[in-house]
Amino acid sequence: HYGGVIFDLDGVIADTARFHYEAWKKLAYELGIYFDKKTNERLKGIGRMESLDIILENSNISYTLEQKKYYAEKKNEYYKQFIQTLTPDDVLPGVKELMEILKRKGIKTAVASASKNAPTVLNKLGIASEFDYIVDASRIRKGKPDPELFLTAAINIGVEPSECIGIEDSAAGIEAIKRAGMFAVGVGDPKILKKADMVLKDLKDYGKIVDIISENITIN
Ligand code: BG6
Ligand code: MG
Repeated sequence: HYGGVIFDLDGVIADTARFHYEAWKKLAYELGIYFDKKTNERLKGIGRMESLDIILENSNISYTLEQKKYYAEKKNEYYKQFIQTLTPDDVLPGVKELMEILKRKGIKTAVASASKNAPTVLNKLGIASEFDYIVDASRIRKGKPDPELFLTAAINIGVEPSECIGIEDSAAGIEAIKRAGMFAVGVGDPKILKKADMVLKDLKDYGKIVDIISENITIN
């Protein structure tokens, strides 16, 4: 029986994937590098430096590690400005409703985000204390699609991976959930989230996740 639900943050709990996109777009523009939504799709769920490397694939200049660190930090400064505007009203529809039902059912919850800004974002949204565990991204060695973030969450809520459901908006995140041996719920475009066990348009459809838990539906 399912005992845990592990949430991605950006693009699942709040629409912050859009801020990451805007921040990278601003940086790419300054560097004179072509950047579009298709490239951006590959950045979802991926760490800061790895994301920069993907953006720099479209550049004919090679950057030193020092320069890369500088630009990654610059993007982060833009991102931090964007998230200043977040309030509890920015929690996406369905998230709080789902959390409430999970709590009532005694299901543990965790956040498994690659973002080092996750604690700030969750505090701004006013929901940090609602989760049983928030993975510290700075202590993770391998980012998504590696399962480490999801497995770390499972261990810390004390639930077997096979009894966990992971929720993600990125292809890399869905792959991480599957490699962790969990039930994967995608939120977004089914064409992008092909490997998910179930795809919802958004979490307003949270009832379908409750059904998986109530009916103990497993897929492997
Ligand atoms: C993920 C986002 O949650 O966190 C990525 O989907 C982002 O777009 C990654 O690059 C790392 O975030 P941060 O805030 O540590 O740069
Ligand atoms: Mg995400």
